[in-house]
Amino acid sequence: MPTITEQLADLRARSLHRSLREIVSTEGNQIEWAGRKLLNFSSNDYLGLAREPALALAAHAAIEKYGVGAGASRLVCGTLSPHITLEKTLAAFKRTEAALTFASGHAAALGAVQALVGRHDVIIIDKLAHACLIDAARLSGAVVRVFPHNHLGKLESHLEWAAEHHPDARLLVITESIYSMDGDAAPLVEIVALKEKYRALLLVDEAHAVGVLGKHGRGLADQLGVASKIDLQMGTMSKALGVSGGYIAGRRVLIEWLVNRARSFIFSTAVPPMLAAAATAAVDFLSSGEGEERRKRLWTNIRYLEKKLREIDARFPVAQSAILPWMVGDEEAALLLARSLAEEGFLVPAIRTPTVARGAARLRITVNANHTTQEMDALTEVLARLCPAEVEAG
Ligand SMILES: Cc1ncc(COP(=O)(O)O)c(C=O)c1O
Repeated sequence: MPTITEQLADLRARSLHRSLREIVSTEGNQIEWAGRKLLNFSSNDYLGLAREPALALAAHAAIEKYGVGAGASRLVCGTLSPHITLEKTLAAFKRTEAALTFASGHAAALGAVQALVGRHDVIIIDKLAHACLIDAARLSGAVVRVFPHNHLGKLESHLEWAAEHHPDARLLVITESIYSMDGDAAPLVEIVALKEKYRALLLVDEAHAVGVLGKHGRGLADQLGVASKIDLQMGTMSKALGVSGGYIAGRRVLIEWLVNRARSFIFSTAVPPMLAAAATAAVDFLSSGEGEERRKRLWTNIRYLEKKLREIDARFPVAQSAILPWMVGDEEAALLLARSLAEEGFLVPAIRTPTVARGAARLRITVNANHTTQEMDALTEVLARLCPAEVEAG
């Protein structure tokens, strides 16, 4: 058996090694890393809320009142008023009966899926679903069937199979709404029709859609008019909401079940009340006039950057979200490209296996409401210079 040192060397040899980079300061989209200032095109803080004064003020007020830690798990004595206010705010925002928050989106996925299905049940999940959803499916012990990304025919054939071979099982379909590494949208209307036809439960992870799509940024399901048909609307407060923590919004009976059975909720200390207060301020911000304005600016930037990227490569697809992946393929080539961009002053990480399939490495470019046209021009000018082949292809 190879030693861990040998395994690390093997990762390096295959351009798959990862390491942490220490960012010593952040100011808007400027970050300072390794003694250099870089323009950040990799954050999920799509609306710039992580530095929004209203959120910081809410957090400060909660610190004054409750201190910095919750002191215990939610069911012991860690449920403080900011947690309840946040859950009510989230439920109202998502227009569901109730909501439950977790320490992270990852914990929300693990807790909810494991609480709902077990070894006598069946999960049908999109191949490109986020690692936390895949982990949740595996850990639940349920029979897991994977369908190719957004492939409705295969989803239906799995549902048919489950109905025939596991007639007494609970069926749970799992999908994202906006895919985190591809930035594309799931066909939620059709998925909802299938889940109804086969009487399955549906969990939709709106991590990258909330704040970006739908009225007040409620997400893709809202935009498509199917939100009320989704049993578990999952999300995270770590992306466009600018804070951290995950949630599940849905029917009261489901939320009550999660309070009783979701292990990552029950056996974990409640998130600091200051984070709950900041997240409530973030949700409130989304519905405000300023929130509308910020989302409008984000979409102006998305359309601008995709146009610039299409000038480099005419095949660049129409953007469906703030995630604009620049496909490279080879892991080493993606890493070299990311390094060259960093040398030129841009932080755009190379995404490699196992986050994406082998040979599908890419630069994951994200754009936010605070990027300026000059910044987007500068990025695309450098990218065009570093990718001459794509220029010819275009
Ligand atoms: C689609 C998706 N779901 C869930 C998560 C996990 O959320 P969190 O970062 O809050 O754990 C992420 C982000 O990492 C994500 O991209």
